[in-house]
Amino acid sequence: MSRLREPWELGGLTIPNRVVLAPLAGIGNWFVRLQAKRYGAGLAISEMVSSHAIHYGNRKTLDELLVVRPEEKQSGPVAIQLFGGDPDIMREGAAAAAQAGADAIDINMGCPVPKVCRTGAGAALLADPDRAVAVARAAAEGSRLPVTVKLRAGRRIGQTEGFDLALRLADEAGVAGITFHPRSAQVRHKGRPDYELAAQLADQLPVPLVLSGGMNDAEHIERVFEETGVAAVMLARGCLGNPWLFEQTLGLRLQEPSREEIVDELAWVVDRAVEHLGAVRAARYLKKFYPWYVTRLQETSTIQDAFQRAETIDEQRVLIDGLRQLQPA
Ligand SMILES: Cc1cc2nc3c(=O)[nH]c(=O)nc-3n(C[C@H](O)[C@H](O)[C@H](O)COP(=O)(O)O)c2cc1C
Repeated sequence: MSRLREPWELGGLTIPNRVVLAPLAGIGNWFVRLQAKRYGAGLAISEMVSSHAIHYGNRKTLDELLVVRPEEKQSGPVAIQLFGGDPDIMREGAAAAAQAGADAIDINMGCPVPKVCRTGAGAALLADPDRAVAVARAAAEGSRLPVTVKLRAGRRIGQTEGFDLALRLADEAGVAGITFHPRSAQVRHKGRPDYELAAQLADQLPVPLVLSGGMNDAEHIERVFEETGVAAVMLARGCLGNPWLFEQTLGLRLQEPSREEIVDELAWVVDRAVEHLGAVRAARYLKKFYPWYVTRLQETSTIQDAFQRAETIDEQRVLIDGLRQLQPA
């Protein structure tokens, strides 16, 4: 049996296996997390949620992002990821996330987007380790839950201040774990992650390290997991429209999904999106999701375009029914 199927402990929580769903902005809502859990994820992290938006009572944030459904938790915990650079506001945000049902709080110290970094949040915290420690401590005080931090190797290529900060966070802020994405903020999501650096950090860190970056196929993931000695791996782009990657990574399935499975899964996603946002908003929101599934079906660009042009959920459902009949080109 793959060691990825073994349980592990994170700040007193038992995680049933070592494959984690990444935080994915604009994507990682309750139903995407539920989907990952249905296919075996041991832990799922929410998309990043602004601690300031919680502070100011932003309705969409409170009603749509700060939501944890009981069914998500049936097969393992759920963490809410928060971002922000102000300890007092983080304390309050973390309390609200705990109230919403999160089992753990994850803090984003890796987001490279200028809009986020300009506010002193995300990867900007790599440059201000004292503040980063204060933010992580405040999240633990506010939530009384295990706190993890997700960070990058550094801000610029070749820099490794994220490595040093991870050690300080474990030592001084008492974080329960670290997710390490060993690329610099400068390269965003491009290039080979520095797995050697991750192995060094896993070796030195007194708490579990979850590794993120380049997790696209089961064989590669298993090899990186064994070679680096990390506690767990995190799937991100590799599982977009491809929840089967969880099962494959866990050694529960070898084959690729059939056409029928893919179409059924897409129909499930559409139903959940309507439940989440109502038919009108779901029809817009889902345009981000269709290309992932339609590409897996090896459909033509004409079909891709048809999904992007279809304005209502009913039109989109007709196209999905059509996929059941079509044969791959
Ligand atoms: C569309 C998208 C949204 C992301 N949103 C977040 C986020 O909200 N919080 C975060 O910490 N990382 C975020 N990330 C980074 C991923 O969690 C992950 O670390 C990164 O994609 C590297 O993994 P991969 O190479 O396996 O995709 C995002 C990445 C992508 C592609």
